Amino acid sequence: MGDSYLDLVNTPLPGRIAKALGLPRPSVLRRYTPGEAVAAQPVLVTGSGAGAEALADVLLGWDVEVRRHVLPGEKLGAAVVVLDRAASPEDLAAPMLELGQAVRLLVPGGRVVGLLRSSADTADPAEAAARQGIDGALRSMAHELRGGATANGIVLRGNATTTDPTTLGALRFLLSGRSAYVDGQFIEVTSTPAGGVAGAAARPAAEGTPDRPLAGRTAVVTGAARGIGAKIAEVLARDGARVVAVDVPAAGEQLARVANTVGGTALQLDITAPDAATRILDHVGQRYGVLDIVVHNAGITRDKLLANMDAARWDSVIAVNIASQLHMNERLLASPVFSDTGRIISLASTSGIAGNRGQSNYAASKAGVIGMVRAQAAAFDDGGRTINAVAPGFIETDMTAKIPPLTRQVARRLSSLQQGGLPVDVAETVAFLASDAAAGVNGQVLRVCGQNLVGA
Ligand code: NAI
Repeated sequence: MGDSYLDLVNTPLPGRIAKALGLPRPSVLRRYTPGEAVAAQPVLVTGSGAGAEALADVLLGWDVEVRRHVLPGEKLGAAVVVLDRAASPEDLAAPMLELGQAVRLLVPGGRVVGLLRSSADTADPAEAAARQGIDGALRSMAHELRGGATANGIVLRGNATTTDPTTLGALRFLLSGRSAYVDGQFIEVTSTPAGGVAGAAARPAAEGTPDRPLAGRTAVVTGAARGIGAKIAEVLARDGARVVAVDVPAAGEQLARVANTVGGTALQLDITAPDAATRILDHVGQRYGVLDIVVHNAGITRDKLLANMDAARWDSVIAVNIASQLHMNERLLASPVFSDTGRIISLASTSGIAGNRGQSNYAASKAGVIGMVRAQAAAFDDGGRTINAVAPGFIETDMTAKIPPLTRQVARRLSSLQQGGLPVDVAETVAFLASDAAAGVNGQVLRVCGQNLVGA
């Protein structure tokens, strides 16, 4: 299942040969370890407004060495470019060209994070052009970065500021190793009430710390017996959550192993069963009283060209990947067990964004997840609950190990990071969306795809 080319090219001689031949040279990504500093090297914060000043002050409080200008020769861990005041496309030249100089100084695994306002929030064409222009510039820069560095953006919606808790939560995520395989993406944030967590009145003060942000929370993960689901269970538990691992009875042994590893409980059920939601709510209600986080991860593929598709393949994919989620969400929302500040995170796929040959059924289900999340989010607006989707690209799992070798190699190199992601990369993003830090992130589809060219 491993990427042996990645390992090889990161040794001295093959690395030099790959360079000489102009072959892809994927880097080993900087991934999260609990206790890590926000940034081990200085962080450049550019931008001239009050928003940039305030953000630089916050970063100082995070024990980060902040620079307001590039110092010749000094390496940078990250560059944060605050562009919240861009009013016309001409305003972009100075900050973007300064950023161009800064990225030359980025360490391997460095980060670029842009903060901008949404073009959807202005009626002024020049201002909208400037804001949308930042989007294009940052995505292009993400394609240009090497050494496992990434570039992403935080889009301030409405009256959100550079120092709102959710802005800072998204920034911390994007600067950290948790976002290793998130590249060329934009997280939209809205301001949360009273400078705190949405629904804070209803939710007990977080017991969490930056390293255990989910302490005291109860999470259900479907499809947890293996692959991405097993890793999500592990990461949520590492972050402090009590985990209920759900999978089909046929996967019972593996499921028990995962539940034991994470110190959680196992619940064997088929999520398409009519009583699946009731059984989950009963299980959690009896043991823990409240359900805070639901991760709809279970999913199947039954690939065929549409011309050769039969009803069984179509129906089973729709039933597992989307119909079960719609049904379960309806039951969750009607139940007192589901927290007023509950989080739902649903696994979509880049196939659901771009489509994929042989996957019309799967893409229908995953695009369906995106539609469901957006509609439900609108209903959650102003409440304490959120619902978001994570759309993985090529992830190294049993599923992708079955792809023929040559196709697999090509698929891996098609992203800006020139490699597939790991299950942990998806799990870290799920954990971020499950945390209080993401209280103002709702109705988003966050791609974990290394900026794959497919579906861009
Ligand atoms: P996997 O096939 O390794 O694991 C899926 C798990 O879901 C299995 O343990 C299976 O038993 C369980 N499951 C299937 N049907 C179920 C049902 N009716 N009730 C309860 N459990 C059920 O899949 P993988 O690769 O870990 O994918 C996890 C999720 O991520 C899926 O939703 C998949 O569509 C999505 N995804 C995966 C990508 C990848 O590259 N591996 C890319 C994009 C999305």
